[in-house]
Amino acid sequence: MSGSQVKRVTVLGAGLMGHGIAQVCAQTAGYDVTLLDVKQDFVDRGMSMIKDSLAKFVAKGGLDKGKADEILSRIHPTLDLKEAVERSELVIEAATEDPKLKLDLYRKVSEYLRPGAILASNTSSISITLLGSVTKNPENVAGMHFFNPPQLMPLIEVIRGAKTSDATVEAIRAAAKQMGKEAVLCKKDSPGFIVNRILLPALTEAALLVSEGVATPEDIDKAVTLGLNWPMGPLKLLDYVGLDTALAISEVLMQEFQDPKYRPSLLLRQMVRAGLLGRKSGQGFYEWTERNPKSK
Ligand code: CAA
Repeated sequence: MSGSQVKRVTVLGAGLMGHGIAQVCAQTAGYDVTLLDVKQDFVDRGMSMIKDSLAKFVAKGGLDKGKADEILSRIHPTLDLKEAVERSELVIEAATEDPKLKLDLYRKVSEYLRPGAILASNTSSISITLLGSVTKNPENVAGMHFFNPPQLMPLIEVIRGAKTSDATVEAIRAAAKQMGKEAVLCKKDSPGFIVNRILLPALTEAALLVSEGVATPEDIDKAVTLGLNWPMGPLKLLDYVGLDTALAISEVLMQEFQDPKYRPSLLLRQMVRAGLLGRKSGQGFYEWTERNPKSK
């Protein structure tokens, strides 16, 4: 399969990342998109987030209303995995960052994929080689890692698993270009790939500063935004990405490298146990209104 042959894309998971990826596929790449989740509520929420995001582009004058409606009409929500997968040349998995859940999903998806179709994972840290190992065609499996919010962030990390073919890597690069993104290639299937291996220790360190009482979340974020010119401080970014997702990535990094620098902070674990997941649950290091955080 080459990138130019991709016309139909399926996105598995309509959550924080999946809805944005589906939107980019329809809006920028012009693909016909199927968006799948396991519950009607989840699919409805994903479609509603896409509508909100399209409305922001319209409000800013970057998109006219008719075009936004046309983009929306090219995204087909479904709960049926077989129907979702069997027609597409490219399937992008954006399910919850849980290895067992993903492996179960890959086994099933592999049964339904059409010959030559590519299965790309948006995983933040789970081994692409492992995901490919439970499929019939691991040469067609690779990482395609987007950044939150996918509608605005210009990067895609392309990750080569142990058995990923050159043709698959090239097809994903071509699809990334079609989506208007810059791609970087992670030549080895290394935990956390490039960005999260650098980012997660910084986010963990920020959570440690809070738990040690060194500074308030507001001052830590202010320090990093003004001192390092990050668009968001690390604690706001933790809330934005989701504390559960950040914890899952840290756990994979810790388990794979066995290096204490990747150990997640106790505060992060406790906040996840308490359901303080950040923006998605309405509360994390900050309380979140519809759009922006307000200080506690
Ligand atoms: N769709 C469309 N437009 C959107 C949008 C969306 N989903 N989200 C925000 N916008 C628009 C807003 O409408 C706003 O437009 P105007 O400037 O015209 O008003 C603009 O983007 C800026 O938004 P906000 O004013 O709400 O907030 P902001 O100025 O802080 O920008 C941001 C938001 C672009 C997300 C910026 O804060 C940022 O770049 N933050 C860092 C994000 C980041 O680091 N992401 C990577 C996380 S790591 C990851 O994803 C990997 C992983 O595996 C964990």
